[in-house]
Amino acid sequence: MKKKSFLYPISGMLMFFLITLAPVFGGEGMWLPLLLKSLNEAEMKSMGMKMSAEDIYSVNKGSLKDAVVHFGGFCTGEVISDQGLLLTNHHCGYDVIQSHSTLERNYLVDGFWAKSNAEELPTPGLFATFIVRIDDVTKMVLNGVRKDMSPTERQSRIDQNLKTVSNRAAKESWQDVFVRSFFEGNQYYLFVTETYRDVRLVGTPPESIGKFGADTDNWVWPRHTGDFALFRIYAGPDNKPAEYSAQNKPLTPRHFFPVSMDGVADGDFTLVFGFPGRTYQYLPSFAVAQTIDIIDPARIGVRDISLGIMDKHMRANPDVRLAYASKFASLSNAWKKWIGEVQGLKSTQAVKEKEKQEKDFFQTIGRNKKQEEKYQHLLPEMERLYRQLDPIVHDRFILTEVLGGSNVELFRLTSYADRLVRAFNENGEEGFRRMADRTLPVLEDFFKDYRVEIDWDLFSALTEHVATHMTPDLLPDILRDYTASPTTGAFDVLAGKVYSSSVLVTQSTFEEAVMKGGEGFASAMRLDSAYQFYLSLKQVLDQHISPVYNELNEQLNSIQRDYVTALMEAYPKRRFWPDANSTLRVSYGQVESYTPRDAVQYNTQTYLDGVMEKYKPGDYEFDVHPRLIELYMTRDYGPYSENGKMPVCFIASNHTTGGNSGSPAIDAHGNLIGINFDRVWEGTMSDLYYDKSICRNIMVDVRYILFIIDKFAGAGHLIQEMKLVHPKA
Ligand code: ARG
Ligand code: GLU
Repeated sequence: MKKKSFLYPISGMLMFFLITLAPVFGGEGMWLPLLLKSLNEAEMKSMGMKMSAEDIYSVNKGSLKDAVVHFGGFCTGEVISDQGLLLTNHHCGYDVIQSHSTLERNYLVDGFWAKSNAEELPTPGLFATFIVRIDDVTKMVLNGVRKDMSPTERQSRIDQNLKTVSNRAAKESWQDVFVRSFFEGNQYYLFVTETYRDVRLVGTPPESIGKFGADTDNWVWPRHTGDFALFRIYAGPDNKPAEYSAQNKPLTPRHFFPVSMDGVADGDFTLVFGFPGRTYQYLPSFAVAQTIDIIDPARIGVRDISLGIMDKHMRANPDVRLAYASKFASLSNAWKKWIGEVQGLKSTQAVKEKEKQEKDFFQTIGRNKKQEEKYQHLLPEMERLYRQLDPIVHDRFILTEVLGGSNVELFRLTSYADRLVRAFNENGEEGFRRMADRTLPVLEDFFKDYRVEIDWDLFSALTEHVATHMTPDLLPDILRDYTASPTTGAFDVLAGKVYSSSVLVTQSTFEEAVMKGGEGFASAMRLDSAYQFYLSLKQVLDQHISPVYNELNEQLNSIQRDYVTALMEAYPKRRFWPDANSTLRVSYGQVESYTPRDAVQYNTQTYLDGVMEKYKPGDYEFDVHPRLIELYMTRDYGPYSENGKMPVCFIASNHTTGGNSGSPAIDAHGNLIGINFDRVWEGTMSDLYYDKSICRNIMVDVRYILFIIDKFAGAGHLIQEMKLVHPKA
């Protein structure tokens, strides 16, 4: 007793000091720009930020947000000159660069640099969206929504309100408006946007720089990729959005980022401003466990098989390597992320940590009778629903992964066929013709990179996987027959039947079938082995899996919404950030190293020396361009080096996810220090659970970008239009 009373005041004081002097946190969170002032500014300043929240987001004056764009709706980009010069990732511009390439002028291999505005390449379909204003419209959207409404009643009331809110929003004629739900439907924000549709390719390094390390280095630190490309936004004569026209002028932006020549040091404040796609922060422990034990293994299992088969064929044949490189890259990107995610969730004991938080939640609401009554059922209820979902998600994720058309491409062909059949059934010959007009060019494109013998292998291996891994009762007869009496090679026999008789697997026979018209096509499909097999699997999904899955998810969504409400009530002092939903967010952190495993610590900065360490002459992932080798040998780095070395990439503790690619990395003063393009593998679980000890984002150092533009490509005129600054001088 005595001891305790003696210790108590000290530990109390200690606590006080720990709280006030504790190192600042930052790191976790993708914050709404309009709430920075109230939620984050103080912390950001304590971490070294020299700007105000108003400098980052303001409706009334130019602010950083006016230089950030949603690039094509899937990446982020930033304006870096007063002439609309736009910087994003090479992998964000990859398809554009590919589409401008031919065998004679292969910009992927050789890079491309426009010498003047006239040489910049128009890219129909590409757009860049600025955020003009964000408003909280929660009250209006939830007006008239009551607790006792059924989910359908609730939704229809909300839909009505959404229409009214959007229609009434003040905006100019060239602007757009949309409303998004936040915190699982607890809050709503309205966005007024301006979308520019004349965006031209200005410059790109060769793949050997922009994609250096390719799939082997993807999601990996230390990294040495110059993952950047340059575009330019063009506007009409009034500087407003305009369709492409040769008369359009480079955009004069409201703001553009000055570019810092001073680089970063450990501990420096960093901010990433962009459009993160999707995170799942408020899931309960049961959902995280389900991801670790069922969902991720199900989809990893399917891709293990397809990537293995593709790799084998790609290594055996250079033509296949080219044709399958992009498909392989996109399959392997998520596959590798999921593997890292499972490992990270395990190593940080995410489930246990969530359980601890849930226990605390129970105790906290237990101290308040009203809250306890309202909310104590939520977690048990979710647990019950997740247990019911477990077997269903297992089957669902295997089947959707296989049927989705990225693993077995035959199922992409059958889904095109299905679209055509439906168009005929719903809108007759006229509807069929319209759908055929849309489908034929897609087929043309598809078959260029399709190799039927590889797909045959994939089909055989993955139908066997489906037959042996899904709940037997759910299998269509044809697969159940195969598994009932397993014989070796049975699935090859099945593949043989399907591929040798289907008209869908070659361009000419598919097109011929389409030429027969709707009636003829539909009757051909009634006999087509591939189409019928696809329908039998799709039926399993549509009739036996999706209805239950959707029903359980609908219940979960509404409980999840109440759970977030409950958390906010239970912890009124805590700062909450809404899960990513492809809207503009701010993440902030510091340049910080991390320890991926025992006795290993990673530095925060990589250099060109590391590129040369990884150099493998002739290798498709690690070859180095002769010009870059020459610059390295002569240390010809211009003004962009640091102590005689050329910086390439760096890491920091900014919370980012897919969609943040291309986002500006910004220093304490609002200058550009890099562009975001990846996360470290050990920390990819940050979509579900952020742990500051191992979650890091990876950025290209902007000095490497300047060096490549200036010294490697000789495109110094582009540097001329930027504003280079020395904030540390
Ligand atoms: N991992 C990064 C992202 O998720 C880069 C992907 C592109 N690079 C690649 N090798 N697939 O988008
Ligand atoms: N490469 C990702 C993208 O394309 C960003 C990396 C991540 O998921 O954090 O958005």
